[in-house]
Amino acid sequence: MQEKKLHLKNIIKRFGGRKVVDVKDLTLGTHGIEGLIGPNGAGKTTLINLITHKLKMDTGQVFYYPNGKETDISKKSFDEIARLGMVRTNQIIQDFQSLTIRDSLLLSLAIPKYERFYSIFSEKKLRKAAQQEIEKYLDYFHFENPDGHALSAGEKKLLDVVRCLLLKPKFLLMDEPTTGLPQDQTDLVITLMRKKTVEEGMSILIVEHDLDLIWGVSENVYFMAEGEILIQGPPDEVRKNKTVVKKYMGESDA
Ligand SMILES: Nc1ncnc2c1ncn2[C@@H]1O[C@H](COP(=O)(O)OP(=O)(O)O)[C@@H](O)[C@H]1O
Ligand SMILES: [Mg+2]
Repeated sequence: MQEKKLHLKNIIKRFGGRKVVDVKDLTLGTHGIEGLIGPNGAGKTTLINLITHKLKMDTGQVFYYPNGKETDISKKSFDEIARLGMVRTNQIIQDFQSLTIRDSLLLSLAIPKYERFYSIFSEKKLRKAAQQEIEKYLDYFHFENPDGHALSAGEKKLLDVVRCLLLKPKFLLMDEPTTGLPQDQTDLVITLMRKKTVEEGMSILIVEHDLDLIWGVSENVYFMAEGEILIQGPPDEVRKNKTVVKKYMGESDA
C-alpha cells in the first residue's frame, strides 16, 4: 500500500442539467495499479477529464500529492497539472496527420505547453537522452516503420501511451489504452505498466472493459455507475460483489 496520491471531494459535473459525475469522497493512488470499471456512460472518461482539468467541474476539489505534499489542483490548467506529473492517455486518439511516428514523439516533447518542463532539452546531452528513450520505446513496441505514419488505430494508441511515458508522469491515467490492441501488444503495455509502478513508483489508474485484464493487473478496483463510485476494493472482492455483477458483468460478458 502506497501513500495516497489523489483525493477527490464533492465533485459534481452536469451536462445539460443531467448529473453525469457525482463523487463525494474518493482517494486514488494508494496502490501501484488501480482499475476503474463500469458500464458505458457511467462517467469514467468524464471523471478523468475533470481530474486533469480537460473539463471544468461544476463543484468540487481535487487534491494531488506528488511528493506527499498536498497540492490543490482544482483550478490548475491541464498543462500545469501535466507539469506536476499527472498525465492521461486518451480513449479517442487525435490524428497526428502528416507526422511520422518518430517525429510525432519528438514533437510531443517539444510542444510549447511542456516548454518549461523540457527546456532542459536545449542542452544537447539531454536531447540525446530523450531521443534514446524514444528509440527504446519504438523498439519495445516493435513499430515496423518509425519513419512512416501511424496507420492502424492500434499504432496510434501505442503512440499515445509512449507520448505520455516520455513525459515521465508520477500519476498516469489511462483511458482504455489497450482496447482494440492485439493480445501481444496488450501484454507489452501491461508489462510496461507493472515495471513503471514497481521500479519507478508511478501510480496508474486504468479504465478498461476487458475485465480479465482488470482483475489481473489491478491491485485495487473502483466500480462506477451512473456517475457514482459504488464499490471499491481488491479485485477478488469487487468481481464477486452483487452490485457489480448485477449492474455490469452480465452486460459486458454478453
Ligand atoms: N461533452 C458532453 N456533452 C454532453 N454529454 C456528455 C459529454 N460527454 C459525455 N457526456 C455524457 O456523460 C455520460 C458519461 O460519459 P462518459 O464519461 O464518456 O462515460 P464512460 O467513459 O464511462 O463510458 C454519458 O451519458 C455521456 O453521453
Ligand atoms: Mg469512456
